[in-house]
Amino acid sequence: MTSAPARRTVVATAKALLAAHKGLLAMDESTKTCNKRFAALGIPQTSEARRAWRELIVTTPGLADSISGAILFDETIHQQLKDGRPFARALADADIIVGIKVDTGAQALAGHPGETVTEGLDQLGDRLVNYAALGARFAKWRGVIAIGDGLPTNASISANAHALARYAGLCQELGLVPIVEPEVLMTGDHTLLRCAEVTERVLHAVFEQLYVQGVQLEGLLLKPNMALPGLACAEQNTVDEVADATVMCLLRTVPAAVPGIAFLSGGQTGVQASNRLNAMNQRFKKRMPWALTFSFSRAIQYPALDIWHGDSGKAQQAQHALQHRAACNRAARGGEYSAAMEPTA
Ligand code: G3H
Repeated sequence: MTSAPARRTVVATAKALLAAHKGLLAMDESTKTCNKRFAALGIPQTSEARRAWRELIVTTPGLADSISGAILFDETIHQQLKDGRPFARALADADIIVGIKVDTGAQALAGHPGETVTEGLDQLGDRLVNYAALGARFAKWRGVIAIGDGLPTNASISANAHALARYAGLCQELGLVPIVEPEVLMTGDHTLLRCAEVTERVLHAVFEQLYVQGVQLEGLLLKPNMALPGLACAEQNTVDEVADATVMCLLRTVPAAVPGIAFLSGGQTGVQASNRLNAMNQRFKKRMPWALTFSFSRAIQYPALDIWHGDSGKAQQAQHALQHRAACNRAARGGEYSAAMEPTA
């Protein structure tokens, strides 16, 4: 059972993460994922290149105007900026709350081809204690659900929901806010309706497991996918259709005690993600009991990464692009984003 001080801490941290219409920045790509993104742009796949990119991110002027918390990867939380400050210290100095990805990745689920279960519960308590000592105040765990012929199975949904709830309980016991991320992938040719059905099924299972494990809903944030048609689906829906399907799905499944929902971007472009988040906040502001915000990686980082390309001479321009996307998403959280905010408009 989580102690009263730990409960108070997680509730206060969750509230701080949602303050002032801000959102979260995910910069917790695993080494493999980060290298894949660097390779596509011809950037060297080295520890120093990853460090330099992440230093560019955390030293972006004005980032804290839109970003309340940043999620780091294990490698980064052990690295320093050029001035010698650890990344966690630099974020705290910038008034950004430090988060850490603590799952160890999605592994093949035995007996269920095409499906995975996310691992990392072994020694998780010790790792959380170490990360808290390094400055982390919240954590992230991502379960991955694929849509396909006969997928997802109940086995994959329940295994991932169970792990998410076990992780969340442990985080709260140690005073860290768990970000609970069940991601239904965009890969495939499924329709928006099918994604909404699967997302609803997954979220029901996740909240059932959170209840079973005694996780305090007031001290967590949910990080779901939006309800979207698959990337290969012939019908790509309008912004309002996506907003309506996503919010209906959340209203049916996420208890009002949860303080906030912070979407992943999942492969949407920066502009798509801002538009859709904005439409949800505009159309449903009065009906939603939780804050609806963002915890994007690609939808914030990609335009800046594309400018930087590993060239330190482009750092300032890249930081400007990063700050811009973060500001667009902060506006979208308030339902105040518009195409006029984009440079090409
Ligand atoms: O786990 C995934 C990240 O936290 C969110 O990444 O916005 O690129 O989907 P994304």
